[in-house]
Order: sequence, then structure tokens, then C-alpha cells
Amino acid sequence: MKGAIFMRKTCSPLRYPGGKTFLSDFMKKVLMQNNLTNCIYAEPYAGGGGLALSLLYERMVKKILLNDIDPAIFSLWYSMLYFTEQLCGKIRKCKVDINTYIDVKKKFKTTHNVLELGFATLFLNRVNRSGILKAGPIGGYKQEGKYKIDCRFNKEKIIQSILKIAEQREKIEIFNLDALHFLKEIKQNFSPEEIFIFLDPPYYQKGNELYMNFYKHEDHQFLCEFLITELRDYKWILTYDNSPQIMEMYKNKVPFELINVRYSANKNREAIELLFYNNIVLPTNNKRSA
Ligand SMILES: C[S@@+](CC[C@H](N)C(=O)[O-])C[C@H]1O[C@@H](n2cnc3c(N)ncnc32)[C@H](O)[C@@H]1O
Repeated sequence: MKGAIFMRKTCSPLRYPGGKTFLSDFMKKVLMQNNLTNCIYAEPYAGGGGLALSLLYERMVKKILLNDIDPAIFSLWYSMLYFTEQLCGKIRKCKVDINTYIDVKKKFKTTHNVLELGFATLFLNRVNRSGILKAGPIGGYKQEGKYKIDCRFNKEKIIQSILKIAEQREKIEIFNLDALHFLKEIKQNFSPEEIFIFLDPPYYQKGNELYMNFYKHEDHQFLCEFLITELRDYKWILTYDNSPQIMEMYKNKVPFELINVRYSANKNREAIELLFYNNIVLPTNNKRSA
């Protein structure tokens, strides 16, 4: 797979640094080649869930289980699925400017209301630079930049993508657990034959700059041990940034591929990422062993 650059429009209303929608075509081939079409598809680190949604919309999988530890992300998923009208109403009504930004940012930090937090998460994600919640508004507080705060806030498009998600609510289950807890639940409730797991954990390097929740070295280690021992019979794919520490952890344990991608959060620079896989056959011939 090395050498290919995958880009694809996401069906998620969330802009996600490192989002994996670009793997859709590849993942479709993986599912077909491994007789996994119509399986249950689980993502322990779902984020915007663009890849999962595209597989569901194309009827490649029968159900998606989306988990994320971040209560803000979970609240948005919950609001999209169960407070659809109210959320869309808030989007229609809001004025996309710096005053709203300041107001929403305050609410984002203080509210315990699911709908309010869900809306704040979506709003900040659409108006912050590169969709990074910790970053400032597009165009700056003085709005002197080339691009203005509302340049990524196409209300109609956002609402349409939310309505499409809500239409599928019977086939989408959401969770707000730590990934390892979620994986233990998966193991308890599903046999290796009925489920496929795609894992996109926070990056080893720079994870703390991109996400509100990130991993320390030992967290990456715990995940590795769990996957290699407890989920050895399950079918899974794991992606990571190309870091020597991750390579060291998985070395000689599972096969891997290098993938070449381009992310806008990274100033449109190309990056090589790692893709480890277990109990599946990849649709290419150039497999490598870690
Ligand atoms: C690399 S992003 C996933 C991006 C996603 N694949 C997409 O395409 O949008 C990692 C996600 O993992 C979540 N996360 C971080 N630590 C976690 C944990 N311990 N358990 C579950 N989710 C976690 C973060 O909130 C973040 O949304």
C-alpha cells in the first residue's frame, strides 16, 4: 500500500485531525476479501466515525459500535442520534461569529447538559483551526485572517449529514468508555466470527496536541498487550503514527503495512502511518512483518 495517498470526503459532520475516512475503499476490500460483509463493526476510538459511517451507508457492515472516552464527542453523537431536531434547530439558529464563539467556548467548559455540550462540540470543531478543539478560531479573534470563522460552517451540509446519521440510529450504538473497558465488553459479548474491530488510538507522538484525551507510553503498552493476548483470535486492524516505540511494541507479533497519507491538520504534508492487522488477509500482495 505504500505510495498511495488516500483522500476522501467524510460523511461525518466532525472534522477530525487524523480522521480515517480515507481508508474507506481499502476497508471495503478488506471486508469483502475476508467474508466480513454484514459483520458488526466496532471502533474503540471512534472520534468523528467517518470511516464507520461510510461502511454503514454502503451496507458493507450491518451495525456499527462507536466508542469514545471524550464526553464532548459522546454528547455530540448522542445529540445527533436522539436530539436530532433540537440539535439541527440550534445549528440553524446560531450566528457564526466571534461573540458566539466566546459564548459557546464558555458553555463547552461548564455545561453538563448533553445537547448543549453536543452542540458546543460541533460548533467549536467547525470553527476552530483544523478542527482541533484546543486551537483558536479560524481567522483569529480579530478576524483578520484570509479565512473567516464561518468558512467551514455550511449549515445545510452539516444538518444533512446529521439527518442521515439519525436515519440509521437503529444500526448505530454509542459508548462512552475507556477503550480497554470497551474491548473487554466486546470480548464478552461477541465471538471472533461476528465482529471486526478497527482501532485508531491517539497518536504516540503529538497526541497531546491534537486531542483532549491522549495516551502515555504505558497506555499504548497496555493496549498492545490486550490486543496481542486477549484479542488474538479476533479480526482487527490498528493504525498508528510511524513511531519507533510503537514499532518496537508490535515487532514480531503481528504483520504490518505502511500507508502514505495527507492530513490538513499537518499543513497538508504527507505522512507515513503504520497499519497492523490480525487474523485477516489484506487485499494487496506486499505484506511486511514487523
Ligand atoms: C486518532 S482519534 C480517532 C479519529 C477517528 N478514527 C476518526 O476518523 O475520526 C483518537 C480518539 O480516541 C479518543 N480517545 C483517547 N483516549 C481514549 C481512551 N482511553 N478510550 C477511548 N477513546 C479514547 C479521543 O477522544 C479521540 O477521539
